[in-house]
Amino acid sequence: MDGNRIKTFDLNALWRAVALVGFLLAIVLALPGHGNAQQGLAPKAVQSEAPTGGAVPGEALGLTSDTDYWRAVRSGVQGNVSIPDKKAGTLIQSEGEAWRSIRNGPLSLYASWALLGTIVLLGLFYAIRGRIRIEHGPSDKTITRFKAVERFGHWMLAVSFIILGLTGLNVLYGRYVLKPLIGDGAFGFITQVGKYLHNYLAFAFMAGLVMIFVMWVKHNLPDRTDVKWLLQAGGLFSKNLHPPAKKFNAGQKLIFWSVIIGGFSLSLSGWALMFPFTTHFFAGTFGKINMLFGTELPTVLSVLQEQQLNQLWHTVMAIFMVCVILAHIYIGSLGMEGAFDAMGTGEVDLNWAKEHHSLWVEEHQGDIHQGSGDRGTPQPAE
Ligand code: HEM
Repeated sequence: MDGNRIKTFDLNALWRAVALVGFLLAIVLALPGHGNAQQGLAPKAVQSEAPTGGAVPGEALGLTSDTDYWRAVRSGVQGNVSIPDKKAGTLIQSEGEAWRSIRNGPLSLYASWALLGTIVLLGLFYAIRGRIRIEHGPSDKTITRFKAVERFGHWMLAVSFIILGLTGLNVLYGRYVLKPLIGDGAFGFITQVGKYLHNYLAFAFMAGLVMIFVMWVKHNLPDRTDVKWLLQAGGLFSKNLHPPAKKFNAGQKLIFWSVIIGGFSLSLSGWALMFPFTTHFFAGTFGKINMLFGTELPTVLSVLQEQQLNQLWHTVMAIFMVCVILAHIYIGSLGMEGAFDAMGTGEVDLNWAKEHHSLWVEEHQGDIHQGSGDRGTPQPAE
């Protein structure tokens, strides 16, 4: 009997002790400081930014705020990834959205106006001025204007540029202009072939650019004759006016330097697009611009931002070049009688040469030849 009482007593005491400990534990856990202490274990970044350092997000675990986490992701914070491409750690890159809307919006629009404007102006010029004729008529003599190597360099540059221009414009406008005309399949094929042509012919363009630079730079340095030529607008708008010029007149010098500087810039930005994420042209350039002009352009750019700026700049330079070259092609073919021969056979009519490059003819008397006889009614070379 006694033994049973002792057993009952012990059991009651045990239950009361367990209840007391449980109660005390609940009070301790509910104390305000206790929760903070646990949060303090989480990395600092997790509390306000996207998780870095392997922290797990989510209110469910009580470690961080979902809102803060996604806000940080949206603002482009880069997290950690275990794959080699660390760029994958940026889930959302807002500048990408800005790039896309500039490229497909104002850039494409203004570029199309520039192209259309150039074509309209050339059409107007042709309508008003007509073809610029050899005023003294074709002569019975020619003068060697460009050697074979010069023509080779020019045509390598020209043919590659024209194909680069067409395939590039297809990337910008093809889906709106070409695709509805020829259908998805043909457009896809042309665009894919065009992409390869664009990539590989870029090297021919760069080689041509180097060639014409080396061969012609000394003839394109500005001199006093350019001032007179420019003041008279090269006689382009008036008949019987032929300001003296050496091998290249001021207008051609402008074309030459536009091609050299524009082509160099086009090549650099194209190179950066071909070998992506390897260059930092813009951060460095912005730094120099800031230093020179006191501007506050960003000097820390991610490789992705560099790429986006490269693409925009490549398009701007390409459109500029296409406009300049449209004018050049016009004047070198349809717009001026006798001009094309310079890059065709290399021999130009002597009267043409005297009208457009009188000072150069004076220095090259030894390069004058009897004409081939198929140049129309010959007139004495004046
Ligand atoms: C069908 C296309 C083209 C034609 C018919 C053409 C025609 C000509 C001709 C006739 C000349 C010599 C002018 C002279 O005797 O003074 C010339 C020069 C030149 N061409 Fe072209 N060309 C074409 C395309 C290009 C392209 C695409 C480029 C560059 C991307 C280019 C760049 C130059 C340069 C820099 C010169 C020397 C400077 C000048 O004369 O303006 N050409 N071209």
